[in-house]
Amino acid sequence: MLGIGIDFGTSNSSVAFFDGEALRYVDLEPDDEPREVMPTALYLDRSFASTVGSPAIARYVHDNAGRTVQLTREEVGEIEITVAGTDKTAGLGDGGAITQEVRVHALTDADMPGRLFRSIKRWLGHHGVERVRVFDRRYRIVALATPVLTRLREAADSVGSSNARAAHVGRSVRYEGKTADASAIALDRMTEACRYAGLPDATLYPEPIAAALSFLHERPAPDGQTVMAFDFGGGTLDLSLVRARGERFRLLASHGTPLGGDTIDRLIYRGQIFPELGEGALVRRPFGAELRTIPFPFDNYAERLLNWTLAYELNRPELLEPIVQGVREGGETGGRLARLYELIQGNHAYSVFRAIESAKVELSDAQETSVYLPELDLTVPLSRREFESLLEPVLAEIDGCVEQVLQNAGLVAEQVDVVVRTGGSSRIPAVIRLLESAFPERVVEHDPFRSIAAGLAIASYHGYRPPPDRPD
Ligand SMILES: Nc1ncnc2c1ncn2[C@@H]1O[C@H](COP(=O)(O)OP(=O)(O)OP(=O)(O)O)[C@@H](O)[C@H]1O
Ligand SMILES: [Mg+2]
Repeated sequence: MLGIGIDFGTSNSSVAFFDGEALRYVDLEPDDEPREVMPTALYLDRSFASTVGSPAIARYVHDNAGRTVQLTREEVGEIEITVAGTDKTAGLGDGGAITQEVRVHALTDADMPGRLFRSIKRWLGHHGVERVRVFDRRYRIVALATPVLTRLREAADSVGSSNARAAHVGRSVRYEGKTADASAIALDRMTEACRYAGLPDATLYPEPIAAALSFLHERPAPDGQTVMAFDFGGGTLDLSLVRARGERFRLLASHGTPLGGDTIDRLIYRGQIFPELGEGALVRRPFGAELRTIPFPFDNYAERLLNWTLAYELNRPELLEPIVQGVREGGETGGRLARLYELIQGNHAYSVFRAIESAKVELSDAQETSVYLPELDLTVPLSRREFESLLEPVLAEIDGCVEQVLQNAGLVAEQVDVVVRTGGSSRIPAVIRLLESAFPERVVEHDPFRSIAAGLAIASYHGYRPPPDRPD
């Protein structure tokens, strides 16, 4: 009998097996370099054929980056609208309804070869985001998660004697979303996506408990030892406190928040890159006969730049025109706005995020680096000190979450014997320092990218059930 764990992460995914003694990981990208961790990425081409993992990113970058975007007005359908006839004098009868056919147009990027989706997990809990438009279809969020989960299930099936149908699949403690029922919505959608992906008997199991189990397997703890799992990933921070009892454990408390590497990348974007793209620039505009100096309306662009999947929508004449006017003014302002123009027209929105993420990762080892954007002829130096000042609100939120999980368990920091640091974002030096100052000499790093899949496989092997969901 094999236990199977599937970690469907915001940024990365992995699959592990446990046979009661040893853990094994599945090679998820056999065509590429063999890799046990796969980027959670989905590319849909115009025929809706899907590509998953590193090849999805490679195809997107190859087919799309640097391609000049041309938005055209395209008829997307006809709708019937019913107009209540209230004005009897206008001859609309007795106030009954009339129906009209209206042609609906949208601005579309007709030459777009395909769409890339990343961080799909972050959308699962958003009540208002039921579907996204992909070319001429409206795709359910569930349908974007399914191909990735299918790929992970197929990888699990490729290992003989496994029964992937009943795998343990990871879940965040609390999913991102604006409403109080975000996690409930996300869990419903995950359950549905698992069903379509050939995982009808999957158990959705909390990721930080899995992290603790993986650690306890590697380093069996003395009875009664209290372990805190600190899993800081791409989309969420997830914490669990468990008490070890021989081979088993007792859950004391969990707490989670939608804070992760994606949030940090956006902070760098806002703080360091936005000013280089024209935020805060002053431009001259005619008001009657006089020219007035006003701030460039950067707010009209900011959200779509941060949400790079939608950045192509910025290619509208009414949004490009003010940039072109600013470029014509020349000088420093003109140079900054020329970069914004190139970013939008050249479809470089995703490349900017990739450059920011690599600079962030480098700063976990180096004191100085740069966000290198050759597409925009731009290199922005970034020191660890600057990065840490941008991180202050994140560190404060982490501190609050650690306090909260301790409070949920009725413990103080001194009663925690070991803090298990896992997830890519837990490698950030300022985060390590924060933990080490709260739990001196008790913080250990544990397999940042595979621990969740490993712990899920262990939970699956033992048939552990998830604790009841409890709002905190
Ligand atoms: N050395 C590093 N320093 C800082 N951040 C890093 C480092 N390595 C990876 N990251 C960040 O860690 C995140 C990915 O971590 P991980 O794979 O644990 O997340 P995930 O499991 O996909 O997400 P989640 O668990 O939130 O669903 C990304 O935001 C990435 O930029
Ligand atoms: Mg994770």
